[in-house]
Amino acid sequence: STAIEEKMYRPNFHFTPKKGWMNDPNGMFYANGYYHLFYQYYPDKSVWGPMHWGHATSRDLIKWDEQPIAIYPDKDKYIFSGSAVVDVNNTSGLQIGNNAPIIAIYTLHDMTKEREGKIDVERQDIAYSNDNGFTWQKFEEGNPVVKNPGIRDFRDPKVTWDETHKQWIMVLAAQDRAQFYKSANLKNWEFLSEFGKDIGAHGGVWECPDFFPIKVEGTKETKWILIQNLNPGGPNGGSGVQYFVGDFDGKTFKLDPDFAKRVDKEKAVWADYGKDNYAGVTWNNVPSADGRRLFIGWMSNWEYAQQVPTNSWRSSTTIARELKLVKKGNYYNLISNPVRELDYYITETNRTKTLKGKENYTLVENEKVDLTQAIVSLEFKNLKQENYTFELSNSDGESLKFGLNNKENYLFVDRSKAGKNDFSDKFAATTSKAFLDGNQKEAVFKIILDKTSIEIFYNNGEKVMTEIFFLEKPFTALSVSSKEKMEINNVLIQKLDV
Ligand code: FRU
Repeated sequence: STAIEEKMYRPNFHFTPKKGWMNDPNGMFYANGYYHLFYQYYPDKSVWGPMHWGHATSRDLIKWDEQPIAIYPDKDKYIFSGSAVVDVNNTSGLQIGNNAPIIAIYTLHDMTKEREGKIDVERQDIAYSNDNGFTWQKFEEGNPVVKNPGIRDFRDPKVTWDETHKQWIMVLAAQDRAQFYKSANLKNWEFLSEFGKDIGAHGGVWECPDFFPIKVEGTKETKWILIQNLNPGGPNGGSGVQYFVGDFDGKTFKLDPDFAKRVDKEKAVWADYGKDNYAGVTWNNVPSADGRRLFIGWMSNWEYAQQVPTNSWRSSTTIARELKLVKKGNYYNLISNPVRELDYYITETNRTKTLKGKENYTLVENEKVDLTQAIVSLEFKNLKQENYTFELSNSDGESLKFGLNNKENYLFVDRSKAGKNDFSDKFAATTSKAFLDGNQKEAVFKIILDKTSIEIFYNNGEKVMTEIFFLEKPFTALSVSSKEKMEINNVLIQKLDV
């Protein structure tokens, strides 16, 4: 029933729409004290359908308030994914009144043309807001701003202000590559270049790109990141978020030679190695004093998103994350960690300084900590070539296993016994893996738990795994075990109250 579904599956602190279907996060920006989040939304059913832009706002990226639907489709003209910018200097000329206009750029997907088997199904349109992002008008007199050039999959425009070259830059997913465009006024766009046809993962269509400059931590150097979501062909099946590190001269994106080596070796580099982080992109206009690059993803996977066992709504977002670019030797890595605002909601902390000499530790037992709203962190020292397995469990025999295989050097998540999975044969068919560079001597885990999700941040965000699950009863215990005697430091078990 709806009441049971609300109680068991409505996340405690991850955003879900009250009712209906949600997929990709769209058009995120910060303005006037609010972080805005829009999303692919179908209010009438909890499966994909005529796409709207749903809307939610937050002051801190954690507590979200659902707002009225922002953009409605006209008949058969679905509003697909895209982005939004704060047009601070009114380059678009669309300002009315005192606020900087906000311009949303999205794909208009024509279902009539799709049914007729036409190629030019997708084009880029804009809409604008003169009240800091709460209400929107389509730019009827000037749309489309980018016509379809004869490419069937031609969508998900991400626009950002390129301060170095003083231009608006749009990156678009064009089937098997990313295309770059520039503009002075957000209305007229000029094609610049493309990237990626023969680089990285190509197991499916490229979708939802993002493109932004970022400082290399601890240096004055700036690199450009191209995020390129892909479905299918993700690291553990289905949807996935890959990225590239390179340089941008205002026209062309060139892969960094060191990163090119990493792509060569690993075939593709992913921002998340779990099954449930897709279509993730970053916020525009985050206050520059802050300078953070903030990311959120859709916590699902097209393999089973429309079958997961909730009925009144479907899907939630990941926790908002801060991205940083770290270089060790010649190894570039985009790390991600939960935003610091999550810590404001910690209401209780249990600390254990050292656990040493046993093969088994019970970290939480007998519901002493609410494992539907918790952060667990700990550090392993002096690791052996062994398996280190965490197990979340309950009295119904449901269990989720995850941890480190330090013989074959990977992190894993196994949800095959973690509650319902018969709604899709893809959901629990495989154990997800994130391969590591080599044997680990130490390992730091930070684990974020909600009712239906686990987000694992390994070694301060060097590797991330995000997965969802649907239990009959909440987990009440957490243990960790190995064949070897363990040494674990700084165990923190924290309760969140959002
Ligand atoms: C990605 C995606 C986008 C598209 C949207 C439609 O999940 O397929 O490429 O714009 O969803 O809802």
